[in-house]
Amino acid sequence: MDWHILKTNVHEFLKKLERIHWFAVGGFLILAIAIGYVAWYGYNRLQDISNQVTMLQANVASTTQSLKDTISQAQNNLTNNIRKNVGDIQDKLGNYQQQVGTLSGTLNTLQKLSKTDPQLLEKYSKIFFLNENYAPAELIAIPDDYKYSSTKYPQISTPVWIYMKRMFDDATVAGIKIYVFSGYRSFSEQSALKSQYKVIYGIGTANSFSADQGYSEHQLGTAMDFITTGLGGQLDGFDGTSAYTWLITNAYKYGFILSYPKNNSYYVFEPWHWRFVGVKLATDLHNANQNFYDWDQRTIDNYLVNLFD
Ligand code: DAL
Ligand code: ZN
Repeated sequence: MDWHILKTNVHEFLKKLERIHWFAVGGFLILAIAIGYVAWYGYNRLQDISNQVTMLQANVASTTQSLKDTISQAQNNLTNNIRKNVGDIQDKLGNYQQQVGTLSGTLNTLQKLSKTDPQLLEKYSKIFFLNENYAPAELIAIPDDYKYSSTKYPQISTPVWIYMKRMFDDATVAGIKIYVFSGYRSFSEQSALKSQYKVIYGIGTANSFSADQGYSEHQLGTAMDFITTGLGGQLDGFDGTSAYTWLITNAYKYGFILSYPKNNSYYVFEPWHWRFVGVKLATDLHNANQNFYDWDQRTIDNYLVNLFD
């Protein structure tokens, strides 16, 4: 081989290598710049996207909170409105219930009053006159165990009977025997009796212990003369018996009052004559330490509705 040709070839080859080298360096640089740019651009885009995501998250969070606040406010408003409306309705219902209660109470009172004779709490004796046609709505015969005489058949107003029976039974339990001596008397019976007394005792004396017809509480069927054992069938002396003492202490609990106590304005002291006026009135009189005839008729009338309570 020719040395000169070899040298030339080598020189050519080296020159080529040198050209290739600069190409490679240039290409590499261009590639590096391109990659750098892409990386930088990509990084910036990522940053933008990240920022946008953060902003979006903040927006979502803020919108969610705002929605929650709105919903909560709406719920509160709704709850308050409902509460207020329910309260208003309850108030109205309460008023209606109260009105219905008052009306039904009034109706009850009127019904009771319509079934109760107003005469039953009126003062008679020498004050009011009882219509000669008045008779109790219903009378029953006093059972044998509760009346004194086997030849007399006293009667009592039916609704009063259970009160008197209870009183007699409780007295019996306490060792006290009380009997009915005399009960209901019609207008004509009272008239006949008073006439007899006038003949026997004279008008003045008769008037001191016997009512004229139409003025006797016995016509009501709610007033009774009581008697007890040991008096020989006489009413006189009843105030000295344990029966009288027991009645003075206990009769009011059963609705009975003593019509003619000592020093009353109408008749002599009649310890045997007891009248049913209802537990409430009898109790109030007892607590006030007063007698039936001491009270004003208008005050007494207020108790009519409670007569059989
Ligand atoms: N003994 C009384 C007053 C009457 O007759 O009614
Ligand atoms: Zn009497």
